[in-house]
Amino acid sequence: MTIDEKTLFSKAITAMNQAYAPYSNYSVGAALVTEDGSVYTGCNIENASYGLTNCAERTAIFKAVSEGYKQIKTIIIVNATSEMSKPCGACRQVMSEFMGPDSQVYLADKDNNFKEYTFKEILPLAFSDKDMDK
Ligand code: THU
Repeated sequence: MTIDEKTLFSKAITAMNQAYAPYSNYSVGAALVTEDGSVYTGCNIENASYGLTNCAERTAIFKAVSEGYKQIKTIIIVNATSEMSKPCGACRQVMSEFMGPDSQVYLADKDNNFKEYTFKEILPLAFSDKDMDK
C-alpha cells in the first residue's frame, strides 16, 4: 500500500461524512487504492425511489473505473455505527470484477476498529467471466 491504513481510514471517514442517507440514516464511506497507488473514495447515495441507492463501495469503484483505474489493490469500508461494515452482496460482486482474490479488504467501524480480509475470504466461489468460457 502506498498510503498507510490510518490515512486510508481517515479518507473513508471523510467520505462517509458526505453520505446522503436520509432514508436509512446509515452512513457508509469507502476508500480504495488502485494498483498504481491512486486513491478514490465514495459514500452511499440514497434516493426517494429506494432501489436506486448506490452503496459507498460502488461509488468509490465507479469513480476509479471512470477515471481509467480498473485494478484495485485495497479497499476500506467504514460506517457510522460501532458494528463493522459488511459489504452487501451486490457490492461484493462488483468488487470481484476489479479486485483479485488476494486484494485487501478492511472492514471498519466508526471507532477505528478494523479487520483485514482477502477478497476471496469475503466472496468465496465468486462468479466471473471465466465461468462462461467453459
Ligand atoms: N450500504 C452501503 O453503502 N454499503 C454496503 O455495503 C451496505 C449498505 C448503504 C446502502 C444504504 O444507503 C444503506 O447503507 C442502508 O442499506
